[in-house]
Amino acid sequence: EKGGYDTFMEKEISEQPHAVADTLLGRTNDAGELVLDELRIDEDELKSIDRITIVACGTAAYAGMVAKYAIEHWTRIPVEVALAHEFRYCDPIVDAKTLVVSISQSGETMDTLMAVKHARELGARTISICNTHGSTIPRESDAVLYTHAGPEIAVASTKAFLAQITACYVLGLYLAQLRGGTYAQDAKAVLSELHGVPAKIEALLGSMDRVREIARFMADTRSVLFLGRQVGFPIAMEGALKLKELAYIHAEGFAAGELKHGPIALIDAGQPVFIVVPGPDTPHGLHGKVVSNIQEIRARGARTLVIAQEGDEAVVPFADEVIRVPHTSPLLQPLLTVVPLQVFALELSTAKGLDVDQPRNLAKSVTVE
Ligand code: BG6
Repeated sequence: EKGGYDTFMEKEISEQPHAVADTLLGRTNDAGELVLDELRIDEDELKSIDRITIVACGTAAYAGMVAKYAIEHWTRIPVEVALAHEFRYCDPIVDAKTLVVSISQSGETMDTLMAVKHARELGARTISICNTHGSTIPRESDAVLYTHAGPEIAVASTKAFLAQITACYVLGLYLAQLRGGTYAQDAKAVLSELHGVPAKIEALLGSMDRVREIARFMADTRSVLFLGRQVGFPIAMEGALKLKELAYIHAEGFAAGELKHGPIALIDAGQPVFIVVPGPDTPHGLHGKVVSNIQEIRARGARTLVIAQEGDEAVVPFADEVIRVPHTSPLLQPLLTVVPLQVFALELSTAKGLDVDQPRNLAKSVTVE
């Protein structure tokens, strides 16, 4: 049942190109537009939405954070991301023009379910992004957009995460399409690029040998930091979460811009730091700013493990290791940059002799508050 792999997690990481492709499958017409018949919310109602709140827990919440950057850019609709357990008890501002999007692999997470019920009581429209047919959260929502990652067995989420990001993109691009004009045109171009991403994930998965090697040499490491910016910020946090969950190593993800406001004090000789570098074509010169961050922490002794796009030579002088990912436009990069971080955590956990699929103290789906 593990299809020749030693662990479910390894198998599920390898299935990620399909998780993305299958989540896109059957949702585009011949004209290259999205057709989401499954969203049983009236088009006019969707057009009247003036705010989106995403509710989720754990890895699913990081998918939501990635989505915030993308959906706001594509639709200009304000998007807020709330941890479901915080949302439920913070007197949230929600009304009939709010779209509450829940993200859950299992569809059974109690915290997320309670958030959805609360949102409905407050009059919001609710859409569930979910991987499990017939589960509770979709049943309690107005509409559901299924991720088609297939069953995920390993406790730590990998392929469901990529599918969740993809489904969020689909939703955001659909809302942009509904807005029409240049929003719709831009959405069409992004959608067409998105269809090419699974092949890039496949290529990336074929080039993970060095990442595995790095991980094996780090089995004694006590702390790893992760830096990212813009969509790379939630990826940094997801990289840290994976390492905590799987290898029981202290790990923290930061927004790279925050470094000088505190975390740089943590840097001393030999401190390993992963840096998720935005592509050189990212607006506002973010690429150069992150390259400067790498330079700053390296000067203080950090061991810099740099995830950068193919062809990005600017990082080379300051990198102890460069892990290459294929080119995509900036907002689609998370579908690639997270992959080496998943492989790193998996390999480090294995090197420590831990149970990758069933980490201590964790459950696949948490059905209590
Ligand atoms: C957890 C799982 O406790 O729940 C995580 O261990 C997961 O992997 C989180 O991200 C949310 O689960 P779900 O099913 O709502 O996506």
